[in-house]
This record gives sequence, C-alpha cells and structure tokens, in this order.
Amino acid sequence: MDVIEAINSRHSIREFSSEHVSRETLNKIIEAAVQSPSGGNSQPWEVFAAAGETLEKIRKIYLDRSKSRQSGPKTPPPSSQPAEHTERMAVIRKERFELLGLDPEDPASGNVFFKWAANLFGAPLVLFICMDKSVPPARSLNIGTFVQTACLAAKHYGVDSFIAGQLLANQDVLREELAIPENYNIEIGIALGYPKPDSIINTYRSPRRSVNEVLRYKS
Ligand SMILES: Cc1cc2nc3c(=O)[nH]c(=O)nc-3n(C[C@H](O)[C@H](O)[C@H](O)COP(=O)(O)O)c2cc1C
Repeated sequence: MDVIEAINSRHSIREFSSEHVSRETLNKIIEAAVQSPSGGNSQPWEVFAAAGETLEKIRKIYLDRSKSRQSGPKTPPPSSQPAEHTERMAVIRKERFELLGLDPEDPASGNVFFKWAANLFGAPLVLFICMDKSVPPARSLNIGTFVQTACLAAKHYGVDSFIAGQLLANQDVLREELAIPENYNIEIGIALGYPKPDSIINTYRSPRRSVNEVLRYKS
C-alpha cells in the first residue's frame, strides 16, 4: 500500500471482530515498526503482545473489575492545557455520542465507551509498548514514531488499529499476565485486528486542523 494511502486510511477502530491476527502478520508489523527512527538509535521500545487465552484472561479481569466501577465524571483536563485542545477533545466526544444517537449531556452516555474499553474493544490482539523507567520522558517521542509506524504497517497488511490509553486501565493485571517488569513503564496500548462489520462507531472520522492553521512558513 502507498504510504499516503496508509496514512489517510488509518483511523481508530473501536469495535473489532474476533478474527485472529496471525503471528506471521504481527511479526511483519513489528519488523516494519523497528525501522522507526529513535534518538541516538536508542530503540527504547519493548513490546508485550497479548492474544488468545492470555488476552481472554486479561479481558475477563478488565470486565469483572469494570462491573464494580462507574464510568464516573470525565477527568478534567490539566489546567495547563490550552483551551483549544480541550475544545477539540470536546468536539470528538460530542460527535461520537451524536453518531451513536446518545445525548452528549447525559452522563450515562459515557457508559457505552466505558464498556467497550473494559472489553478491550473486542480486539483479538493488543500490544503494550513499554520503555525502561530510567529513560528520560522526552524520549517518549521515540515510542511515538514506533507506534505510528506499527499502525501504518498494520494498515498495509490489512490490519486495523486503535491506539488507546484506556487499554492500560489495569496495569497490575498487564504486569502479572504478561510478565512486564517493574522497571518498565507501560507507555501505550495498541489494539489490532479487523473491524466488526456494520459497526457505527467505526465510521467516525475525527476532524483535523488545516495545513494553513498548523503551518507557519517563512522564506
Ligand atoms: C497516545 C494516544 C492515546 C489515545 N488514547 C485514547 C483513549 O484512551 N480512548 C480513545 O477513545 N481514544 C484514544 N486515542 C485515539 C484518539 O482519540 C484518536 O487517535 C484521534 O481522535 C484521531 O482519530 P483517528 O485515530 O481515528 O484518526 C488515543 C490516541 C493516541 C495517539
């Protein structure tokens, strides 16, 4: 697949089918992702993949724990965050609720997303990208290059993705089931798989800022 086609066609999938992603395909995705650039070629990424029975065990614990929790009020964004960032987040929240026919003002509406998250979005494969805790936080940028390359490579191999902090809701469980050492931070999760047919939420596309808005150019 052409790289621009992969960039433009990748979008977050929030409802996956149970169709398995083969180990061979996963290897190819990681083979591409390790080509990502990193500061000083430090390659700080460590990948823990959960699939099959291991993932089902993790999913069950997530679901069991979610039953005793409420989705609760949205965590307020950090006060240092620019207002326009908060507004963009509010836009996608509202648009996604409206797409699902839910009232964005009703606190109960959030339960839909809360339940999907607890079910790990139905994904048959989840990657947890880790980095040694001693690496300076600024090096997280290296994790970003790796994650985006992995998602674009996945697209090339016909696999969809969802990068989500929500996948890390129960880090103690991830450490236990995947033997993630305490000296690693779990930076982000990537759900991989194939979209559930006829899913409404998967048709959602987040709006983007225009080139003119983002780019300041001086010659
Ligand atoms: C680091 C990171 C963390 C994210 N965490 C979440 C999350 O926890 N829940 C969620 O619904 N979406 C999450 N997203 C997905 C973003 O909302 C999404 O990428 C953005 O709205 C752009 O939409 P697109 O991926 O469909 O292009 C995350 C994305 C990134 C890059």
